[in-house]
Amino acid sequence: PSYEYVTVEKRGEGSCVGLVTLNRPKALNALCDGLMKEVEAAMLTLDKDPGVAAIILTGSEKAFAAGADIKEMQNKDFVDCYMGNFLEGWDGVTKCKKPVIAAVNGYALGGGCELAMMCDIILAGEKARFGQPEIALGTIPGAGGTQRLTRAVGKSRAMQMCVTGDPINAQQAKDWGLATSVHPPDQLVAEAVKLGERIGQHSKLVVAICKESVNNAQELSLHEGLHVEKRLFYTTFATVSIFSIRTLFTSFGQKNNSI
Ligand code: HXC
Repeated sequence: PSYEYVTVEKRGEGSCVGLVTLNRPKALNALCDGLMKEVEAAMLTLDKDPGVAAIILTGSEKAFAAGADIKEMQNKDFVDCYMGNFLEGWDGVTKCKKPVIAAVNGYALGGGCELAMMCDIILAGEKARFGQPEIALGTIPGAGGTQRLTRAVGKSRAMQMCVTGDPINAQQAKDWGLATSVHPPDQLVAEAVKLGERIGQHSKLVVAICKESVNNAQELSLHEGLHVEKRLFYTTFATVSIFSIRTLFTSFGQKNNSI
């Protein structure tokens, strides 16, 4: 498929890392409807690609994304939003089975911060700014900013960010657990590719099962999450990869459990 607002590549060893780059530079990657549809299509295409182990979502050095497109939003009233299901389909990224790494340089504001938080792991460039400035526009976050941010950084910090609209920098994002690491802007994507390659050294099937279980921690009670984790753990014993564990044990002189 050809895209207007994103570019799609494959990088890394054996081209095992998908790379989706938001490419609407004139508007700092503001998330218009067309861009969000393309993000979903590009991510799901890479998710289905059997050679791809992990997917990176990134923007430019100036902006990951400066938020929902204010020009598209400004004339909407409640009825338009409600009857038109505004933001329906924005969660395409969360439908991926494979791990999705957000490589965030520059502004990740409003919907941009929310899009980064839909990914599984966030790496930040040194000049990254994460914020939920909706309050300054007379509205509130609408794509996870009050929910995923609270789960990521805790209530007090999320509350402060949402009710002031003030952004945090890369180091703060790392200190608060929103991002896992901070890198020079020009090395950020290469670092994300390395992380994708590292994930690619493991079974794609088991990585997908593992991702599903970790994400359950956001959705389920501890009791339910532990129950499903155990069931998913059992399912890995029905895969080829557990066989490789047995082979490993065998090579260490243990009894061979033939399957
Ligand atoms: C549409 C945007 C935009 C946006 C920037 N642009 N952000 N267009 N929607 N969210 C456009 C500008 O209009 C301008 O276009 C061009 O990008 C460059 O922006 P400048 O403001 O000139 O750049 P700069 O001075 O460097 O300032 C960068 C900035 C600022 C601090 C990021 O652009 C800004 O504050 N943007 C809005 C951030 C924001 O409020 N985001 C939250 C949106 S609400 P022209 O044509 O003039 O050159 C939201 C709701 C989410 O996301 C809820 C559900 C998803």
